[in-house]
Amino acid sequence: TRVAVIGGGQNCEHEVSLASAAAAAAALDPARYHVMALTIGVEGDWRDERDRPIGLAAAVELLHDCDVALPLVHGPRGEDGTLAALLDLAGLPYAGSGLTAGAVAMDKWVTKLVAQAIGIATAPGVLLTGATAATYTWTHPVVVKPVAAGSSRGVRRVDRPGELADALDAALALDRRVLVEDVIEGREVDLAVLARADGTRIVAPALEIVVAGGLFDYDTKYDGSAVFRVPAPLAEADRKALEHAALATYDALGCRGVARVDFFVTADGPVLNEVNTTPGFTGRSQVPRMFDAAGIPYPELLDILIEDALA
Ligand code: DAL
Ligand code: MG
Repeated sequence: TRVAVIGGGQNCEHEVSLASAAAAAAALDPARYHVMALTIGVEGDWRDERDRPIGLAAAVELLHDCDVALPLVHGPRGEDGTLAALLDLAGLPYAGSGLTAGAVAMDKWVTKLVAQAIGIATAPGVLLTGATAATYTWTHPVVVKPVAAGSSRGVRRVDRPGELADALDAALALDRRVLVEDVIEGREVDLAVLARADGTRIVAPALEIVVAGGLFDYDTKYDGSAVFRVPAPLAEADRKALEHAALATYDALGCRGVARVDFFVTADGPVLNEVNTTPGFTGRSQVPRMFDAAGIPYPELLDILIEDALA
């Protein structure tokens, strides 16, 4: 099977996407798969396996030589459904979510509306734009974040009114729409859902992120200082509620393949934080660790994703 592994991308998660793609390419069993690595540069330029610049048309030609794609581009212009749409138009099957799930999950505001509609708690929040930001009055600690970004870029906690303007500017620099959410006090716990080609789903053991100092931000995501506890020690009622909420969210958004659904576990139960339809796939990222704990090592996780894509 010829697999196009696509990494990189035109956003601040470029390096993470390269690492995810490199890890997946290395884990694909060479006895079963022939890997073709394609990279999207930060400027949107495509590159072939030898890192030679090629045009989009040439990239699509190369994709036509493959049987299936494994898109591992995190963030906008990748995870947000755009890459899925390109692969749909090119007629190439691919692992993971399609256009709609990617687009909705990348939009933290729309995700919140969907979650509310199916009875899943999210942080109370308001949507602001450059035009309305000045009308917002700070009354209590909040988290300010771009509606569509990844790896916590542009996300700031605001504990004092004087910090608000800078936080809004930083978020508005990355997106035209910004979300201001109440701070949720709770443990940070991730769930991962994986669909098999036969339609059955596997929910991996929950993973808890323990960060000294609190915020799981861009640095602690990638500097190795965050500790993952998997399986997360959870009360049975919380574990059940998390699994139910993860599956319900996965289905409501129409996810496919693997998705990581991130929660805070509070005294009142789980609160949905966000859904990642192209979650980090480096060897030490959450999803490979969670499925490893489920008895599904990384190469087998890739097998399941590719089988589902080809089904
Ligand atoms: N956005 C990063 C890659 C993650 O969710 O793992
Ligand atoms: Mg994310």
